[in-house]
Amino acid sequence: MKPLLQVQQLEMEYADGTKALRGISFDVHKGEFIAVIGPSGAGKSTLLRSINRLVTPTSGDIVYEGESLMTAKGTGLRKLRSNIGMIFQHYNVVDRLSVLENVLHGNLGRMSIMSGLFNRYSEAQKEMAIHLLKKVGLENEIRKRVDELSGGQRQRVGVCRALAQNPALILADEPIASLDPKSSAIVMESIYENCLEQGIACLVNLHQVDVAKKYATRIIAIQKGQILFDGKPEDLTDELIVRLYEGKEDELLAS
Ligand SMILES: Nc1ncnc2c1ncn2[C@@H]1O[C@H](COP(=O)(O)OP(=O)(O)O)[C@@H](O)[C@H]1O
Ligand SMILES: [Mg+2]
Repeated sequence: MKPLLQVQQLEMEYADGTKALRGISFDVHKGEFIAVIGPSGAGKSTLLRSINRLVTPTSGDIVYEGESLMTAKGTGLRKLRSNIGMIFQHYNVVDRLSVLENVLHGNLGRMSIMSGLFNRYSEAQKEMAIHLLKKVGLENEIRKRVDELSGGQRQRVGVCRALAQNPALILADEPIASLDPKSSAIVMESIYENCLEQGIACLVNLHQVDVAKKYATRIIAIQKGQILFDGKPEDLTDELIVRLYEGKEDELLAS
């Protein structure tokens, strides 16, 4: 099967000389649910942000459905981003808008900017957004303003917004890092179940090794900008985990 995404020899050096990625390569296939783990500063966020070009890598290539993203700009880049859903640690929702409006904004990449500004969403788009919100248990919150919601509820809005784009790939950067265990479980379930059902590939950065092992079909462990492990969750041994967090054992214990 042709990979959906190919990350090839990716290197990223920030302006201050920090080398965040040092030659990262892997392929992602349709329907894979991949957890990216590693200590803070390992390069997990830089990797995800490189994939949809929120940052521009120094060298290497990112190939999405056979097309190189490294040279994409303007319309091409917008089209690419509309195929990739993003979920962030701090939800990235718009406080003064309703839950429904936030989810509909996920469609902006596919609409002209003007029709987005004037809230010209189709009935089909609204129905889809409401369907998604019901699925994640927010049926009673649809008309509420997002600033009335708890953290866990806000993140479920973030999940629905990413799904409303009808993406082939979802990138989630520590989606549960700000949530309590109960909310974390609900949010992870909602991401996992929807990706599985719709055959969406997912790359999710996680701090918690146990959560990664519970959901992932594959784990990629990153340390100092390099891949230390890429394989099945059951093959990630305790010894490897200890090596991964060497010098940062406190993070492992805290997770
Ligand atoms: N905008 C930036 N400018 C300079 N260095 C950065 C920037 N963003 C991240 N870094 C550095 O790059 C490295 C990787 O960071 P990051 O990708 O955020 O790792 P992680 O998400 O695994 O915690 C760290 O050393 C971090 O300090
Ligand atoms: Mg990070």
